[in-house]
Amino acid sequence: MSLRPDSLAVHCGRDDLTALGVHALPIDLSSTNPLPDIERGGDSYEAMATGGHPLPDGGNVYSRLWNPTVARFESALAQMEHADEAVAFASGMAAMTAAILAHTGQSGKRHVVACRPLYGGTDHLLDSGLLGVEVTFCHEHEVEAAIRPDTALVILETPANPTLDLVDIRNVVAQAGDVPVLVDNTFATPILQNPVTLGASMSLHSATKYLGGHGDVTAGVIACGNDTAAALRRVRAVTGGLLHPLGAYLLHRGLSTLPIRIRAQQASAQWLATWLGEHPAVEAVHYPGVDRDTRGLLETQMRGTGAMVAITLRDGYAAAESMTSSVQLFTHAVSLGGVDSLIQHPAALTHRPVAPDARPSASLVRLSVGLEDVEDLKADLDRALRRTPVSAAQTSINRMAPVATRTSTLATSSPT
Ligand SMILES: Cc1ncc(COP(=O)(O)O)c(C=O)c1O
Repeated sequence: MSLRPDSLAVHCGRDDLTALGVHALPIDLSSTNPLPDIERGGDSYEAMATGGHPLPDGGNVYSRLWNPTVARFESALAQMEHADEAVAFASGMAAMTAAILAHTGQSGKRHVVACRPLYGGTDHLLDSGLLGVEVTFCHEHEVEAAIRPDTALVILETPANPTLDLVDIRNVVAQAGDVPVLVDNTFATPILQNPVTLGASMSLHSATKYLGGHGDVTAGVIACGNDTAAALRRVRAVTGGLLHPLGAYLLHRGLSTLPIRIRAQQASAQWLATWLGEHPAVEAVHYPGVDRDTRGLLETQMRGTGAMVAITLRDGYAAAESMTSSVQLFTHAVSLGGVDSLIQHPAALTHRPVAPDARPSASLVRLSVGLEDVEDLKADLDRALRRTPVSAAQTSINRMAPVATRTSTLATSSPT
């Protein structure tokens, strides 16, 4: 039976529960498993260590190769993303690392094209030289020109963290030609956007965010085709960036409420984005559909605008510092996508390692809008915005200097 997204979110990955005689998702915490015999256990081991599934008569062997609770969450997420399979990891960055290794490791291709803006951690990983790849950073319209014979992967993020820029996935896929495209779908979630149906090879999530939704799981997951899933599982089996089964259980449970959370959080975000656009302390609001031409992508690529909002403050860094330390209902913390609202300053925190010319403005703060009453959120932001920054210009210079210094150190330590 083909289910609509709300029904799918509640029922995905649960087809066999009735036959198992249980109603809630089972959790298998075994780190190892009894072997049927050497021959069949060994064959199953080999199948999984090379990226396949366990053999039916060979068992799951060892948790680094296969865990049924994790596999159940993966099959649920794959259904929601309209992909063949999904592969889960210990964090979004473990997933990103595995995707890069799976495409560059043995392919003989060492070049990656990355569309900025990206989450600061992704930018940092690519710029660090740690994975031995050469990276060309560019913007959406420059992808085709950046592709080389040894390009293994194109990476993009839409909506992008933290500026909420939208990238046309179909356009990048067309420019990339045969080169696989990875879309970081963390901000949109499978509820608002399915990159694989638009031609991308992979849809990556920091599952730490909306998929879990309650700020108590660190995880990553990639939805993709069968061959890519096998390549990712192989990297995971060998390098060990595993998702713990308790995390997988919480993520799978979180999927049930994902559509309704997204709708409610998005409604508040839309309302706040419009209100913030009129606020005297706010220079600009960054939110799809409010601040700029979205080139029709809200209609052709997305099914909503999401619940992340960024604002640029008229009084710059000092105002950002004052605002983030004055909120009472919003928590001043990195991360996003949970049921409670968060605020943070990307240039000083999540995007601190990004090269200065690509780093978000020091006047920009990012809001993750939660499920609280929108009037309470508005009152909290209004109170925080109305606090007068102390000697704005001076504070801005003094306080931002260390960030620039530290970042240039990071950048210098990266191979070119
Ligand atoms: C868009 C995006 N992608 C990837 C990541 C990395 O995920 P994790 O923190 O789970 O490793 C983050 C983290 O904030 C993110 O915001």
